[in-house]
Amino acid sequence: MGNRPVKAGWITAKTADVNDLYEQSVQCPESEVDLILQAWKEIKGRVPTAIREDFCGTSAVAREWVRRDELNTVLGVDLDEGVLCWAQNKINKELTQDQIGRIKLVKQDVMHVDADPVECVLAMNFSYYGFKQRDRLKKYFSTVHKDLLSGGMFLLDAYGGSDSFLEMDEERDFDGFTYVWDQHYVNPITGHIINYIHFEFPNGSKINRAFTYEWRLWSLPEIQDVLLESGFSDVRVYWEGTDEDGGGNGVWKIDKTGEACAGWVAYIAATK
Ligand SMILES: C[S@@+](CC[C@H](N)C(=O)[O-])C[C@H]1O[C@@H](n2cnc3c(N)ncnc32)[C@H](O)[C@@H]1O
Repeated sequence: MGNRPVKAGWITAKTADVNDLYEQSVQCPESEVDLILQAWKEIKGRVPTAIREDFCGTSAVAREWVRRDELNTVLGVDLDEGVLCWAQNKINKELTQDQIGRIKLVKQDVMHVDADPVECVLAMNFSYYGFKQRDRLKKYFSTVHKDLLSGGMFLLDAYGGSDSFLEMDEERDFDGFTYVWDQHYVNPITGHIINYIHFEFPNGSKINRAFTYEWRLWSLPEIQDVLLESGFSDVRVYWEGTDEDGGGNGVWKIDKTGEACAGWVAYIAATK
């Protein structure tokens, strides 16, 4: 625990809200919604209104979606009752009555979602990497395909690069805390990995293993193959451009080549 005195306004391991820290350090819902709209405009020539967010967690993207347009609706699906309660509180606090009425959160397994078909399904922050066998991944993608309206689109993200195969830590400083991404275990034979998120605070206190991800590090070619085998008719990869220092510049384009860099995040748009 902490070993330095706590100054006014400081958060500590005792007072921190891990879901709040997760949103601040991991998520950028504005950019994610921009990407959804860009992909739809470029590939379908229109934008959707009804979407489903699988693995919705804190509902950051769902909240941004209903803020963007008064016609937008979203069904958020997650298995974890704790995070869904946190999300519903946040929705009730942050949004207008009209916006609240256009978000529905359900506690269900994404493998069997009991809901009407939608135009667009999202699976972000690599959550489907939790399906470690190829047949499980294919079952999930096939379920999403079945749950989409004709001409609908499935948008998901992926990460990789040479660093993703290493057991290593990466720290980033935020206002009042440090975020630590810990690639703790990598099995090059099975592709199984264990990643943790830890948080550290100015008084020296820490929340170790605030989040744990036991995943298989799927490659982009594998993901595209399984999407096509699951019935999707068209699969495109959005790759990020680079700025002068070699970092991502936030400009996403459909690409067939990419770049063999140390770390990358890509988006995949799969059309029914
Ligand atoms: C990595 S978090 C992603 C949260 C959010 N989508 C984001 O972009 O940051 C994964 C979430 O998926 C949920 N989850 C894992 N397996 C699931 C399943 N089979 N069905 C529904 N939710 C699941 C977890 O409870 C957790 O909230």
